[in-house]
Amino acid sequence: MKVTVVGAGNVGATCADVLAYREIVNEVILLDIKEGVAEGKALDIWQKAPITQYDTKTTGVTNDYSKTANSDVVVITSGLPRKPGMTRDDLISTNAGIVKSVTENVVKYSPNAILIIVSNPLDVMTYCAHITSKFPRNKVIGMAGVLDTARYRAFLADEIGCSPKEIQGMLLGGHGDTMVPLPRYTTVGGIPVTELVAADKLSAIIERTKNGGGELVKLMGTSAWYAPGAAAAQMVEAIVKDQKKIIPVCIKLEGEYGINDCYLGVPAVIGKNGIEKVIELKLNAEEKALMETSRKAVKEVMSVLDTINQAV
Ligand code: NAI
Ligand code: 2OP
Repeated sequence: MKVTVVGAGNVGATCADVLAYREIVNEVILLDIKEGVAEGKALDIWQKAPITQYDTKTTGVTNDYSKTANSDVVVITSGLPRKPGMTRDDLISTNAGIVKSVTENVVKYSPNAILIIVSNPLDVMTYCAHITSKFPRNKVIGMAGVLDTARYRAFLADEIGCSPKEIQGMLLGGHGDTMVPLPRYTTVGGIPVTELVAADKLSAIIERTKNGGGELVKLMGTSAWYAPGAAAAQMVEAIVKDQKKIIPVCIKLEGEYGINDCYLGVPAVIGKNGIEKVIELKLNAEEKALMETSRKAVKEVMSVLDTINQAV
């Protein structure tokens, strides 16, 4: 299996590294527009192979898409990251131009690939890649839910004093502060989380999760990369190993949850065909209202992209 990661910055290089050291695929192409960066990082990852013992070959290229030909999966991380004071949505015009041109090149050389989008604003960059690629919706998948649930699970593990592996969680909605964590669908070793964590503590964890990206931007002056890179690699793994894993992903909704023509995070079965099934949970009134707020927020940014596209 061959996977291309576009963007050899913090998230892309981390994703390539995880794909290699966990031997998720046997060939990784890392591509960046900046001369030498992808080549250098790919070489560094390859030189780690004898130490940490793997044989996945990682090759770096500067903007040469012919080397990405016939990739099974392409992860798109190219674009500006958030800086302090910026929202994810502030990145839209620059990143839309980057994601559009990258998608055009990717599709030319890998017409059968499944695309995983990471660049922000995530839901709208998934929209951008979908309309540019003209691929069916199951093959254009946004990465946010794996990261957001991981943050939620990590915070819960700290609070409960248990292994993060014991925590199963689900969330819906856009990748931003309107995301909708679902305590009703959160369990700890099979026990409903509400039996282990007091309501006020759980609310605080949910709020911290919603602002999880911003918390790290404030600390580091740029956005996170270890968990985001690993999250994208986990999605690649679900596809290339046909795992049928149930994870929250961003997809164009076509009637699910009563929503049409909007790109939002929902639980889905991920396998060799990309998104194989969207899982529709029965939401209560409060969850429905939160989902509607998230839909409106994403729609607003989608319309900004439409305006940009009409202007060019
Ligand atoms: P970074 O600045 O470290 O890396 C971005 C890379 O993209 C740079 O190396 C740059 O040269 C490259 N690039 C720019 N234009 C390109 C083009 N046309 N073709 C190929 N490469 C190009 O940024 P970082 O931290 O890796 O973040 C990447 C993106 O991922 C950002 O938009 C960030 O907001 C987003 N992100 C999304 C997350 C999510 O949960 N969906 C989580 C973390 C980051
Ligand atoms: C994150 O959630 C900024 O989307 C990026 O870390």
